[in-house]
Amino acid sequence: MESLYSQLRERAAVHGQEHVFRFWHTLDTAGRQRLLEDLGNVDFELLNRLVQTWVLSEPPEEHFRQIVAVPVIPPVEPGDTGAAAALKAGEQALRDGRVAIFMVAGGQGTRLGFDGPKGSYPIGAITGKSLFQYHAEKISKLQERYQAILPWYIMVSPSNHGATQKYFEDHGFWELNRTDILFIEQRMVPCVDLEGKLILEAPDRLAASPNGHGGCIQALVEGGALDDAQRRGVDILSYYQVDNWAARVADPYFIGYHCLRSASMSSKCHRRNDLREAVGVHCLCDGAYRVIEYSELDLYPQLLQSDGAGSPLFFAGNPAIHLLSVPFVRDIYTHFDTFPWHKAFKKIPYVDANGCPCKPDRPNGYKFETFVFDALRFTTHSPVALEIRRSGEYTPIKQFEGVNSVVVARASMSDYWAAWFEAAGYTIPRDTEGHCAVDLEISPAFALSRDEFVRKMKNKPLRLDAGIAIHADGSWEEGTPAAQKKTPAAPPKG
Ligand code: UD1
Repeated sequence: MESLYSQLRERAAVHGQEHVFRFWHTLDTAGRQRLLEDLGNVDFELLNRLVQTWVLSEPPEEHFRQIVAVPVIPPVEPGDTGAAAALKAGEQALRDGRVAIFMVAGGQGTRLGFDGPKGSYPIGAITGKSLFQYHAEKISKLQERYQAILPWYIMVSPSNHGATQKYFEDHGFWELNRTDILFIEQRMVPCVDLEGKLILEAPDRLAASPNGHGGCIQALVEGGALDDAQRRGVDILSYYQVDNWAARVADPYFIGYHCLRSASMSSKCHRRNDLREAVGVHCLCDGAYRVIEYSELDLYPQLLQSDGAGSPLFFAGNPAIHLLSVPFVRDIYTHFDTFPWHKAFKKIPYVDANGCPCKPDRPNGYKFETFVFDALRFTTHSPVALEIRRSGEYTPIKQFEGVNSVVVARASMSDYWAAWFEAAGYTIPRDTEGHCAVDLEISPAFALSRDEFVRKMKNKPLRLDAGIAIHADGSWEEGTPAAQKKTPAAPPKG
């Protein structure tokens, strides 16, 4: 330990960060090891670059001569003959085992106020099934439908890796094959104060946060997922965020457009509700494909213009659903040091001069992140941006109530599935505004599409007035009668 200590102390001193040793004399052996481990993980060259560019100066603002809307492929309707070639190509790629599912789940989920990994949130109002289980059931159904293995790569961070893996183990991986699931860990990046100094969150711990979902480029390579993909003959990764309950993973239409255009990265987009909706905006900046994050929109006023009817002129919002080709990820990895970074001014817990933990009540330092959609600027083919309808495909869960919440997602999915029940001949209780008045759930392992649902539901004697959940095997469970559903349950802990 002595030589490691001298080495790291010298490195910290060279970079003006020696203050992190100020409690060294008070630490026991385990504490000293912890601090050295944290410091050993710091990429001081990167830290220096981030501090010089983002903290001690402002990075030069990017100016574009021209920002134009990205050309968008209109949403695919069921039975759309115009999209038949895409469907055929996508289904063939799935049958050929060329597709893996890639879910990012390394975020901290602080806004939801839930203790466990975000994916373990019991989103099913009747079944209590978690987001992870819903995603697992979709994969299981796709494997059955295409008679192919779809490996599942899951990006976690050091802070939720253990808990996520344990959750999967405790649930038997929902009967998916354990060897087809790989957890890959993203890197952490230290937080700094307003002077660019590392922050101690405890006398023996540096404050650090996951390096953003752009960190998946490194994690995919360093965690062995790309090698695994190549061994299996997989060359397309179907990327989505764990918090999007409805995400249509490995959508054959989307994969088909991606294949037909020999794309290296493709994206879905949806119509922005309003100019300030908290979603990134897809556009072409001086010809390069970009997503401008919602927090940076004020730098580009044209993205805040509306059309004659008051809707955003640049309508293509970012639901964070992409396809990435395996060679493209490898290529970006080789020049990841040119990948852009973003900073966020945050409240970061720290220790005071006496080593006592403090929780600031206002932002006191910076976190640094990379965004996966910044990889789009490195693509050279014409953009593949497929518009989707939100209903049944985009229900992000950022908080319990309000915009992008558990409550809204449950209502939206009940409305979406209500149309499936009606197509199968059932009558749905509706409120005065025409929305479904009860909770509905359909296991994706039972049916992934309305047609499949209608085909399989023939003659089931269901009572829907209390809401209903259809399980994977076609059995069902009734919910709570609408009249008794006054207030939604508070988010569970743990
Ligand atoms: C994100 C997108 C935004 C998009 C919106 C759609 C960013 C910066 N912006 O916003 O353009 O319109 O979702 O819902 O992401 N994650 C990691 N590791 C990290 C950070 C995040 O795996 O280091 C994962 C999270 O687990 C989550 C997802 O990335 O699944 C998104 O993170 P979140 O912080 O919720 O992004 P938003 O600000 O909501």
